[in-house]
Amino acid sequence: MARKPVALAAACACLALLLASGAAAGNGGVAPPDSATASGSRINALYWIIFGICAAIFLLVEGALLYSIFRFRRRRGTPAEAEGPQIHGNARLELLWTVVPVFILVGIALGTFVSVGTVNANPAMDEDALTVKVESHQFYWQYVYPNGVVSLDVLRVPVDRTVRLELTAPDVAHSWWVPALTGKRDAIPGRTNQLTFTATKTGTFRGQCAEFCGVQHAVMRTEVEVVPGAEFDQWLEAEGAAQAAGTSDLGQQTWEGVCAKCHGLAGEGDIGPTIAGNPALVDAKGLAPLLAEGRDNPQISGFMPPISPGWPGSQLEALIEYVKSNPDLAPAGAAQQGG
Ligand code: CUA
Repeated sequence: MARKPVALAAACACLALLLASGAAAGNGGVAPPDSATASGSRINALYWIIFGICAAIFLLVEGALLYSIFRFRRRRGTPAEAEGPQIHGNARLELLWTVVPVFILVGIALGTFVSVGTVNANPAMDEDALTVKVESHQFYWQYVYPNGVVSLDVLRVPVDRTVRLELTAPDVAHSWWVPALTGKRDAIPGRTNQLTFTATKTGTFRGQCAEFCGVQHAVMRTEVEVVPGAEFDQWLEAEGAAQAAGTSDLGQQTWEGVCAKCHGLAGEGDIGPTIAGNPALVDAKGLAPLLAEGRDNPQISGFMPPISPGWPGSQLEALIEYVKSNPDLAPAGAAQQGG
């Protein structure tokens, strides 16, 4: 007789563990991050509605299952091959379990289409929108601002102003996704996709390439820094001047965003070979075609994607200057040669 309470206690413990794991996970677990845009809030609302519907169905089905297991279990003294009563045909029940799911699915579909409309809204008429080109490469994001300023992996945008991303991919398909801002959008070779959002909060929001694009897909992360409008304008102007003068940190950004992802932060080698101190690093003539075309001969040093298509001329220069200035990377003698 003691088996019943034990089984019940075990079932309760399992359910409690299940619910506790969900609750403990919180943000970063089952919950999407707090949204910093209107379209993101719509996506989050949709997520919670669908989560609620699924949770209710899960509890209903599992509850009925547990109830039936206990209620209709084999009793002492019943032969093992004994069959329970067989029931055929219950028009009302059958209609119910057909019609109710149809309504649930149609409801979810309608809610989704309405929300997708908000995410895809293209405020082409918004004169004030900031357009940023997003060149999606193996394995970094190159952001190009209207005045030609380039930044890698970190996108800086003004708060309360519409941002229009124009996504392209010179190599393979990628997907730009910053969950706290809005839905993801694919970057596909041969076409330009758009994604717009208006951040209503300042802060730093993290994202990740959401389309498997090669061996270092996992390190193709991004950050969006939402800053006050005046601060943004000031930064963009100052950065424009610094990049024109060659005094910005574009070289370091390029090393860390592009080279280090495969060759290590100090060029010590990772999935790519060791390149620290390699004279080829500061030989612009030899380096340019390698970066532009990549290398796919495994006899030499394995696969390297073409990484520089789309770079402004100053970027290779900035990279080489950075290599020369970094004692971990500079080939012997290069630091003195360089300016
Ligand atoms: Cu780019 Cu995954």
